[in-house]
Amino acid sequence: MLVKEFIERYYVDRKSTHSVKWDGLSETYTKSDLLPLWVADMDFKVPEKVQEKLAERVSHGVFGYSLVEDEYYEAFINWQKKRHNIDLKQEWVRFTTGVVNSFNYLIQSFTQPEESVLILAPVYYPFFDAVKNNNRQLVVSNLVNTDGYYTVDLDDFEKKIVENQVKIFLHCSPHNPVGRVWSQEELLALFTICQKHQVKIISDEIHQDFIQPGRSFLSALSVSEEFLEDLFVLSAPSKTFNLASLLHSHVIIPNESHRQTFDDYLDKGIGSSVSVMGMIATEAAYTYGEDWVDDLINVIEHNFETMKSILEKELPHVIITNKEATYLAWIDLSYYLEKEELVDMMENKVGIAIDYGEWFDTHSATCIRINLATKTENIEEAMNKLVKVLKNK
Ligand SMILES: Cc1ncc(COP(=O)(O)O)c(C=O)c1O
Repeated sequence: MLVKEFIERYYVDRKSTHSVKWDGLSETYTKSDLLPLWVADMDFKVPEKVQEKLAERVSHGVFGYSLVEDEYYEAFINWQKKRHNIDLKQEWVRFTTGVVNSFNYLIQSFTQPEESVLILAPVYYPFFDAVKNNNRQLVVSNLVNTDGYYTVDLDDFEKKIVENQVKIFLHCSPHNPVGRVWSQEELLALFTICQKHQVKIISDEIHQDFIQPGRSFLSALSVSEEFLEDLFVLSAPSKTFNLASLLHSHVIIPNESHRQTFDDYLDKGIGSSVSVMGMIATEAAYTYGEDWVDDLINVIEHNFETMKSILEKELPHVIITNKEATYLAWIDLSYYLEKEELVDMMENKVGIAIDYGEWFDTHSATCIRINLATKTENIEEAMNKLVKVLKNK
């Protein structure tokens, strides 16, 4: 399907639909009449088949406690195999109401208060909160930024692990916000260091389906069998198919004894029931949604290229990170403004709501993160306004 066709068919006006992104601006920003390019959900409707299956269930009219049937596992496991060459076993899978909840639960069940958890920054800000709010010690290894291309400083990573007796490495793969798809060499190096120091790995793979065409994603599950012992992988259909509010996600735990520990933990709290609407939507999405995702990726790429060509032409000193994955663009405006000016510029002059770099890390205070999962017109409007303001500054 052409980009234009996809947008015409799936783009919807989300104002007044309880949308955090469109209706909840005033809780985060100084005004509410901003063009919203922040929260990571999309302005596109789900595939028709997903809507259809949900509607069937709604007309059934009963929403009692629900089982996960074999067909569900089949759809999920097939998707993982076909799209990412991941060999997944049904018994490894557990369900929770969201990926942020999942990494909080894992930190609670596999570390003690005051023990250390390491993250690579900049990174999705709930990573910081999960460590701090659980009274664990936050250990940060900064990614190395070379003109907008981010890599890991392995010496610093290992040094921090040793110095702080780190228990868990919470990893974002692919990476939000810097858009990296980590290579086999990078993952191998990171995981080898973790294994050497008995550090458990949580790999948040929620962005796994938004991979730049021509690239492939390598799951932590596929790096080497030897790392499966101490690995937890988080995935969900919520980013890929725009289902965040249906509260359904996966925790994949290959190690049987860790599964038992996690099950015992869940038994004391949220239990093992699943969101029936989340499950139905997900099964339909994984069964019928492949073409829709491929078309969507083309829209994201088109929006990224549109953004890039406006900025490269008009503001050549903006540093645009090459987005290898995700639907989020990460750009550095340091040539054009001081960090103290950023909020006023974006909200009062440009009129856009974006994620501010400092939410992801103190060193990124002149960066912004732009959500590209909207109609191209919105990206053009935002970029043209940004150009006008920064050029006339
Ligand atoms: C890396 C990452 N993990 C988790 C989430 C949120 O997941 P959930 O809504 O399932 O808690 C996001 C949302 O943007 C994300 O970028």
